[in-house]
Amino acid sequence: MDNGRIKTYIKGFDEHLAGGIPKGSLVLICGPPGTMKTTMAYNILFNSAKEDDVRGTFFSLEQGRESLLSQMAGLGMDLKEVGDKLSIVDFGLIRRNLERMESKNWLDIFKMYAENLKKNTEYDILVIDSLPVLEVLSSFKNPREDLFYFFEWLRELDVTCIIICEMPANSDNYGEYGEDYISDGIIHTKMERMNDENIQRRIRCVKMRGTDHSTDFFTLLVDGGCLQVTRVLSK
Ligand SMILES: Nc1ncnc2c1ncn2[C@@H]1O[C@H](COP(=O)(O)OP(=O)(O)OP(=O)(O)O)[C@@H](O)[C@H]1O
Ligand SMILES: [Mg+2]
Repeated sequence: MDNGRIKTYIKGFDEHLAGGIPKGSLVLICGPPGTMKTTMAYNILFNSAKEDDVRGTFFSLEQGRESLLSQMAGLGMDLKEVGDKLSIVDFGLIRRNLERMESKNWLDIFKMYAENLKKNTEYDILVIDSLPVLEVLSSFKNPREDLFYFFEWLRELDVTCIIICEMPANSDNYGEYGEDYISDGIIHTKMERMNDENIQRRIRCVKMRGTDHSTDFFTLLVDGGCLQVTRVLSK
């Protein structure tokens, strides 16, 4: 298959995205804690590697490698199944190893790893989990400008970028520093309270350049390790 798109591999969702994310896009996944942002991003990399022979790199800035791999294996995505087609970079480990270095510019170190891996593995999808952590580490002086140039740099990598962002619950603000405008796509995840005891996960595509997509919210479910969406039923 190659229709110029990267599938999300969320059953039922790609149909509402004209088949997936246009290759080469910079897409934000924004949502509050526990809404499956990491799982969704990993799901894209894992299945693209497995089904489409597409190479990917996952930069984990929050979660350690072992914790990430065991969580994903619990969801039926065992790294062994895709071999070297999926690289995991544990940025926390790199930081700990370089802690004693005199001058540390974590953004430059991030870029160096991303570039070297691109040369060595020729990945086509890059996941950054998460942007706020990279921003904190990089102590941006002028966040708007610094972020703009970082996105420019990402575009020059010539890969599809999935960038995870945090967002407070009940917010429609997808970017503090304009990343919502400079990205090509935004996927929003949230929790929706149904009644006193029932809370469901929701997902919607806020924007996706070059794509005739639905802007509706769908219910996000995990069924036997497989992510899928269903239409929201009225309360
Ligand atoms: N094996 C599993 N089957 C179904 N659901 C699971 C499984 N393992 C974890 N989960 C659910 O996934 C949630 C975490 O998903 P994930 O880490 O992708 O969310 P996140 O949005 O990245 O969270 P954070 O903001 O903390 O990074 C857990 O809180 C749990 O509800
Ligand atoms: Mg996460």
